[in-house]
Amino acid sequence: MIVFENVTKKYGKTAVLDKVNLTIENGEFVSLIGPSGAGKSTFVYTLIGAEKIDSGSIMVDGYTVNTMKDRAIQFYRRRIGVVFQDYKLLPQKNVYENVAFALEVCGFEREDIKKRVPEVLDIVGLKGKARQFPHQLSGGERQRVAIARALVHNPGLIVADEPTGNLDPKTALEIIDLLLKINAEGTTILLTTHNKELVDFLKRRVVTLEDGKVANDRKGAGYNK
Ligand SMILES: Nc1ncnc2c1ncn2[C@@H]1O[C@H](COP(=O)(O)OP(=O)(O)O)[C@@H](O)[C@H]1O
Ligand SMILES: [Mg+2]
Repeated sequence: MIVFENVTKKYGKTAVLDKVNLTIENGEFVSLIGPSGAGKSTFVYTLIGAEKIDSGSIMVDGYTVNTMKDRAIQFYRRRIGVVFQDYKLLPQKNVYENVAFALEVCGFEREDIKKRVPEVLDIVGLKGKARQFPHQLSGGERQRVAIARALVHNPGLIVADEPTGNLDPKTALEIIDLLLKINAEGTTILLTTHNKELVDFLKRRVVTLEDGKVANDRKGAGYNK
């Protein structure tokens, strides 16, 4: 469970998050929407412990994120798969190596890596592309690699910050479909987007951020908690 309690985050004098209260239960699929500059990415960065907050608290599955030290944050982050708009793949590594690297840096054995990487490539529909390099892939395929990498630690939560921002509408829907499939297996999903049509299609919970505040929290038809 994610609990934001009166979270305020300032850049200079401006409160980018202004006393935000929000609870997300395990297994939910939540879209965080709002215009550019609304604070969506800031929300994500504070959630993953990459940005400090000024006041309030962020609790995730019993961790108090805002008081954790760097080393604890490192371990905490392995529980979260993060996906960005620009994929953040390593250009010199092929698909297999990009995903494997996330396990290598955590000290996993080669044998375990050889077993796990094909499993996640299969989930994202890239089984036949393991030896391709990022520049040989379409945008949608690149984002699938990033999602495979996010899944490799079997996280309870996937945070996707504008994952469809660089994709055409059809490809965007395919990526959302993949996130829905991952959610159906029990993984909590937090998706940020400024694309309102996309979340209307989803029929899941939609939280709107405006000027750093939760302006609306709509529990969609697909919301069954
Ligand atoms: N590192 C930073 N330093 C100063 N201001 C920032 C920084 N990051 C974001 N901001 C400002 O905070 C506001 C919210 O940004 P952001 O969270 O990226 O919004 P969104 O993701 O909704 O587009 C914007 O006005 C942005 O300029
Ligand atoms: Mg953003």
